Amino acid sequence: MENAFQKDTPKIFMEKPIWWKDEVVYQIYPKSFYDSNNDGIGDIKGITQKLDYLEKLGITMLWICPIFTSPMVDNGYDISDYKGIQPEFGTMADFDELLTAAKKRGIKIILDLVVNHSSDEHVWFQSALNDPTSKYRNYYIFKKGKNASPPNNWRSIFGGSVWEKVPNEENMYYFHTFDKKQPDLNWENPILRQEIYDMINWWLEKGISGFRIDSITFIKKDQDYADVTPDGADGLASVKHKGRNRPGIKDFLTELNRETFQKYECVSVGEAPGVTYEEYDQYIGHNGYFNMIFDFHYADIDVESGSEWFRRTNWQVKELKDQIFKSQEAIQRNGWGANFLENHDQPRSISKYINDPKYQNDIGAKALGTLFFFLRGTPFIYQGQELGMKNFIRETIADFNDVSSLDNYQRSMLEGFTSKEALEFVNQRSRDNSRTPFQWNASETAGFSESTSPWLKVVGDHKTINAELQMEQEDSVFYYYKKMIQLRNSSKYRDTLIYGEFVPVNTNDYIIAYERIIDTETIQVVINLRNQASFIDGISGEILLNNYSEITCERNGLKLQPYQALVLRKDKNHE
Ligand code: GLC
Ligand code: CA
Repeated sequence: MENAFQKDTPKIFMEKPIWWKDEVVYQIYPKSFYDSNNDGIGDIKGITQKLDYLEKLGITMLWICPIFTSPMVDNGYDISDYKGIQPEFGTMADFDELLTAAKKRGIKIILDLVVNHSSDEHVWFQSALNDPTSKYRNYYIFKKGKNASPPNNWRSIFGGSVWEKVPNEENMYYFHTFDKKQPDLNWENPILRQEIYDMINWWLEKGISGFRIDSITFIKKDQDYADVTPDGADGLASVKHKGRNRPGIKDFLTELNRETFQKYECVSVGEAPGVTYEEYDQYIGHNGYFNMIFDFHYADIDVESGSEWFRRTNWQVKELKDQIFKSQEAIQRNGWGANFLENHDQPRSISKYINDPKYQNDIGAKALGTLFFFLRGTPFIYQGQELGMKNFIRETIADFNDVSSLDNYQRSMLEGFTSKEALEFVNQRSRDNSRTPFQWNASETAGFSESTSPWLKVVGDHKTINAELQMEQEDSVFYYYKKMIQLRNSSKYRDTLIYGEFVPVNTNDYIIAYERIIDTETIQVVINLRNQASFIDGISGEILLNNYSEITCERNGLKLQPYQALVLRKDKNHE
């Protein structure tokens, strides 16, 4: 069979670098990874000290969440100096040291680029606020109110109006898509855009390999700033309607790409919520704005909206499967995927995707790992996912740090839920779930820090789930991830698993199965995503990975145990 991808690959390779297809990315939330000086907060030196661990796992690139100077209202997604390092994380010298040490081991580093907004403590914003005639006024969005109310009824992502009243000025407001301490930058202003491009290029010159680009679909707002029909009990309407992926964004993103990423052989990974599959060509196509973007369609399968956790769904495996297939097919038609199960905004995957608590264990962690890891695209592993870390259960809202958790708690009650129900929604979805201290060992604070009061409490299950223990057990989740990485990147199936075509396989409603194909080589990935055994027809071949120690062959197929996952090399005579 002639394969379209093989034919294309060399051509694309000559025109633009595609080294990033081969990477396996590990996402680090620095505040929670490893605390080198025992002040209770993870830091840059902590990452450097754990490079051995990361090298052993086999990942090839790190994405480090924001480490820039910040008041830390949104844990670094509120930047007050784009070229500075937040003191609790360390210094620029620490960062340079990390970059060099990682490079020595063949590990690349990408950083988080947060340019939809800055912190209100950025000197640009302070100048804009203190002097209405300053040139920085036009770096942000200031507008007059209407009849003693804010300029419109848009709701910010973290709750409440997108408008914050300017103190000491009559009837004047500034705009924030997220928290009021995260004022939006005014992308309509070419001078601001140029400042941003210079800053990006400054970092690229330093030798980082690229960026994950935060909330980038919010940079264009409908310039009429008109009211929208309310969509919640607070009388407001989500900013998404008129402030996310709006007409005109094309010009900004084309320019951003041309002035920065394109000039370097860097990788650009967009966090681009709200992009439809019809628009994928513009975003990740041959001349796309980015090399890849995260697709959130199935990450938010348990809720109707990723920012309103009280609207829960009763999702079924069949829907998850349909959504994964739809996503993969759209990505394959247009470009390349950035595949993930978890990140710092999502709950732990075992807790989200596995309904039966009995299988929220090693078996479940490996099953989910298998499901996502071999999809076509670059896999992103979030810290602790490789150990099968899980959600916590907090008894009081006072135990939460995440701004959106506090907002969701309030909004749930405003929508008519009891405080108990509100707390449950927050426990299920809180972004703190994935931000708990990394579990290095079984000691009191999980080996994250010698401080007995880390900035966020540990989950509590680190006696049984921790890196030290898993590195001693051959069948641990850690070693399963290591094997997956080896299989994808350094086995003889590498080309098939990286570049091969994605082909969905028809099965019953509880099994998700797909193939990766190049020429005559076919690798099959099969996952039974329920707590009962399931039968699958017409599958046989050499088993390359199995999250159980055995497999039962029956009739003309396989009997899969609850949450059993397999990677097989399909028998050639089966084609
Ligand atoms: C992105 C980040 C999230 C942050 C938000 C505002 O969604 O992933 O953590 O709160 O942008 O910057
Ligand atoms: Ca520290």
